[in-house]
Amino acid sequence: MGKTVGIISLKGGVGKTSAVSALGGAIADFGQKVLLIDGNFSAPNLGLHLNIIDPKITLHHVLDRTANLKDAIYESGNLDVMPSSIFERININPLDLKNRIKTLKRKYDVILLDSSPALNEETLAVMLASDELLVVTTPDYPTLSMTLKAVKVAKQRGTQIEGLILNKVHNKNFELSLKDIEKTAEVPVMAVIPHDVNVLRALSEFSPSTIYNPKSKGSIEYKKLAAVLIGQKYKPFKLNNFLRITPKRQEINREILYKRVFK
Ligand SMILES: Nc1ncnc2c1ncn2[C@@H]1O[C@H](COP(=O)(O)OP(=O)(O)O)[C@@H](O)[C@H]1O
Ligand SMILES: [Mg+2]
Repeated sequence: MGKTVGIISLKGGVGKTSAVSALGGAIADFGQKVLLIDGNFSAPNLGLHLNIIDPKITLHHVLDRTANLKDAIYESGNLDVMPSSIFERININPLDLKNRIKTLKRKYDVILLDSSPALNEETLAVMLASDELLVVTTPDYPTLSMTLKAVKVAKQRGTQIEGLILNKVHNKNFELSLKDIEKTAEVPVMAVIPHDVNVLRALSEFSPSTIYNPKSKGSIEYKKLAAVLIGQKYKPFKLNNFLRITPKRQEINREILYKRVFK
């Protein structure tokens, strides 16, 4: 039986959809069966990240019961994707999401859910349909405030928050530190993704950044997070490991998550 993992944040542009695509690419690379679902119902763009430009049948049709699940699933490289409709006006109840997709857990090891950037029914639907959540944040106060709100709501709904993905990090001293973010949000950071123009390049090529540029720092972070989510070990050789230099905070957090879930 597979699991659903929601990728959320109550702010746009922080990198949710990019994270869904990158993490999906990384998990599929470990040989797992992965489905990405666009839960950003009113402004969907996961399909556009992965070269699914104008899908005729989508999650919208699945939710209004005019299509079967399998007819709304498209292939993009080693990923399966269920996009949503951008322009068609179809009345749906987002809260049906959990029920409509539950049989897919038998077919897929991991289902990643993209989400809307606002506190609305769409985001609640993704929270309720997710077994676990990852919250995407960037190291600045406006985003952190929204991250706190997302964490609070998710906790109220009782969905397990596995951690934060700290994205678009420039490593400048004006940015909020990982330590401060963890302390304020009371959620561990599971991956630190640098701001990297290659993520934009990957987008222009309709490819997950982890497939387009597998050796970048961000891609390696995503692969390590992917491994932890599916209970595998991924340790690329690094001089740091060899010299036993103190591991980074997110390495420790991932080890704790791995032990909690798989030991
Ligand atoms: N680590 C990163 N470095 C550089 N650009 C990024 C990074 N992550 C995301 N982006 C870019 O930021 C923009 C918004 O990302 P997106 O994933 O669409 O955010 P969201 O889904 O949260 O609205 C996109 O153009 C994307 O390519
Ligand atoms: Mg998005």
